[in-house]
Amino acid sequence: MLSNNKTQVFTRSIMDEVIVSQQETKFDQPTARIISHIQPIRVLVANAKGGCGKTTMVTNLASYFATQGEPTAIVDYDPQGSSMDWLTARDPKRAKIHGIAAFKHQTPNSTRSYSLRVPPSTSRIVLDTPAGLSGHSLSDMIQASDFIVIPVIPSAIDIRAATRFIRDVLLSRAYQSNAKAIAVVANRVKKNTLIYQKLERFLNSLNIPFITSLRDTQHYVRASEEGLGLSDLPRRNDKDILEWQPMLQWIEDQIHSKQMK
Ligand SMILES: Nc1ncnc2c1ncn2[C@@H]1O[C@H](COP(=O)(O)OP(=O)(O)OP(=O)(O)O)[C@@H](O)[C@H]1O
Ligand SMILES: [Mg+2]
Repeated sequence: MLSNNKTQVFTRSIMDEVIVSQQETKFDQPTARIISHIQPIRVLVANAKGGCGKTTMVTNLASYFATQGEPTAIVDYDPQGSSMDWLTARDPKRAKIHGIAAFKHQTPNSTRSYSLRVPPSTSRIVLDTPAGLSGHSLSDMIQASDFIVIPVIPSAIDIRAATRFIRDVLLSRAYQSNAKAIAVVANRVKKNTLIYQKLERFLNSLNIPFITSLRDTQHYVRASEEGLGLSDLPRRNDKDILEWQPMLQWIEDQIHSKQMK
């Protein structure tokens, strides 16, 4: 888990770097810059509860964007580095995804580190976050994103934790000053269970969209071991792809409305 101060400094630094790297010429001279109109879309996947599927969602979203031909980066703020492990396992012949192990650069002096830059052409950034995210760190991550996806697992503990986390997001300084689109996704769902019905009622009672439910399947575990997402797989499991569709549609709708502004 990151300390608030460290994450705060670091979130600002990565967003500075994203803008700086996009303005530089191909000679990479900080003094000679061009203005780029490309602003990457930044998707934040977060929930203070550990193990709810943040990294699984980050890697699958990144795989979706990359296979769509979007230059994609994952920025991993979690010291566990699970998204970076996933990238390490990924066959270089697969659709390229750039990785930034943001958790390794948590000193104030690293704010201009070249290693934090996403490639200038990057159009999609997916932010993986640590469990326990709250306070200033959470607010800074919200500020550094365009929209937020919150995975929630059907369990009493997770539902209570999600309630607190969603409240923290809505009350955060960043959200209060610039409200972002938020959606929740039920993950590791076994549909015919009482606890799933409870989660469904809870998510439907929120004032934010509950966009899809992803089933509990080893399919994600196996794909993850090989650095793959659903979108990479040639023999796609139709059931899982269908479950992802509403989330991908919601994300594409958010991207479209942001780009129309
Ligand atoms: N829909 C699913 N079906 C089955 N297993 C899943 C599913 N989603 C995630 N998992 C598995 O659950 C475990 C936790 O998922 P994941 O690492 O994505 O959660 P996390 O929120 O990133 O955890 P942490 O808070 O520790 O970073 C992993 O082993 C992952 O493969
Ligand atoms: Mg994780």
